[in-house]
Amino acid sequence: MLVKPDFARYKTAAEAIQKRVSIQPEVAIILGSSLGGIADLMEHRTEIDYSDVPGFLLSTNPSHAGNFVFGHLGRRPAVIMSGRFHFYEGYSYTELAVPVRVLSLLGVKTLIVTNAAGGVNLNYRVGDIMVISDHIKLEGASPMTGPNLEEFGSRFFDVSTLYTPRLRQLAFEVASTLAPPLKLHEGVYYYCPGPQFETPAEIRAIRVLGGDAVGMSTVTETLTAGHAGMEVLGFSLITNMAAGVFDQPLSDEEVGVVARASADKLGALIEGVLLRM
Ligand code: HPA
Repeated sequence: MLVKPDFARYKTAAEAIQKRVSIQPEVAIILGSSLGGIADLMEHRTEIDYSDVPGFLLSTNPSHAGNFVFGHLGRRPAVIMSGRFHFYEGYSYTELAVPVRVLSLLGVKTLIVTNAAGGVNLNYRVGDIMVISDHIKLEGASPMTGPNLEEFGSRFFDVSTLYTPRLRQLAFEVASTLAPPLKLHEGVYYYCPGPQFETPAEIRAIRVLGGDAVGMSTVTETLTAGHAGMEVLGFSLITNMAAGVFDQPLSDEEVGVVARASADKLGALIEGVLLRM
């Protein structure tokens, strides 16, 4: 079934949220799997379950909580989405535009996206953080599929700097001031729709194509944000080396263990960026 983009749906969701919170968020942070602990940094919190927002989507993934946390982070009014949506859950690409369009109607101007990802670049190590410089999405449709909504942006839009250079630079500056200083990579996120992890042959192909990290999320959100004129900063936490790098199977448990262990340093980095943005 073709699900068309529906401005009234986004508006209904945004108005239902505005009835329940007084904070007007400037920044939104979307947390990747098992990174929910970062939401604990939020002050003056108000939580809203996605299931209480008419027109919103529902998380089906147990490692994603499924709620908004409104409050202040780095002294800025912000909202965290603890739990995100993926194509592999059965959503269409057009439906995957819903969350960021609702954030846009709430007044969000800057989107920070985080994810757990497999390391494709052989210089990366498990636990490293990569600032996303660009992405590759050769498979699947655009979240802007269907009639264009001029309220957000134009039909054909430029994606040459989706990941805002100024914010990437700031992330490196903040990382160097943390104690201990945090070493960051900068690289290209390669999108695969999943839910299966990639084959070793796919990972070799992705490496040749220019991917440094691989994952199943983030790009639909970034594209929707870019269409709506938001600035974007993206972080990939390398939870495992991608398929075929080591002679061992990949597992969701491994991803969860590493993500939970590294959530604190990613949280400190994000808080530092918000303080200095
Ligand atoms: N591939 C795809 N998605 C992922 C991976 C991976 O290796 N690790 C965490 N998310």
